[in-house]
Amino acid sequence: MNITTAENDIEYILFNEEQIKARVTELGAELAEYYKGTTPVMTGVLNGASIFHSDLVRAYKGHLFIDFIQVSSYGTGTSSSGTITFKKDFGTDIKGKDVLIVEDIVDSGLTLKYLKEMLKDRGVKSVKTIAFLNKYECHPRELDTDFYGFKIENNFVVGYGLDYAQHYRNLPYIGVLKKQVYES
Ligand code: IMP
Ligand code: MG
Repeated sequence: MNITTAENDIEYILFNEEQIKARVTELGAELAEYYKGTTPVMTGVLNGASIFHSDLVRAYKGHLFIDFIQVSSYGTGTSSSGTITFKKDFGTDIKGKDVLIVEDIVDSGLTLKYLKEMLKDRGVKSVKTIAFLNKYECHPRELDTDFYGFKIENNFVVGYGLDYAQHYRNLPYIGVLKKQVYES
């Protein structure tokens, strides 16, 4: 894989830079309204959510704390088992805090379900989730995130932080990856 040919591996662009920016601005305003009077800990899930997180916190006009976690989920092939372990835990004490978990995408929903339950056990004041993309056909409604950017169909997408084998995270748009890239 050659980084200079990254663009050639994209079937089509699903959301361009302008569409992303406009939606993130709306999400920032929605969250500021929701968290009015509180100081949420906006917690990015590394590595995928790093770019969305950095845009989202700047679109949020209000007091907040930022933190990052990194998790790994053990599953078979491309599906999540829903059992996760921390590769990097919170850098701050979250007991009694309002925590917003910021993810790149919700697919089966198992990762976020597990994280939510784990954080409740740690005595947070509240835990909510946001994913930039919502593969709405891939999880039951009770595993939906509290907030999301866009609903998408069940295609494999990359860019804006999302990867395939750690590549493509730097593409400034969300694109559908050509099937031949991962089927070959
Ligand atoms: P799940 O909701 O537990 O199934 O896992 C969600 C995770 O799967 C995300 O954080 C991504 O790392 C990964 N993922 C799911 N769908 C895609 C995709 O289309 N492109 C890139 N990563 C994906
Ligand atoms: Mg991820």
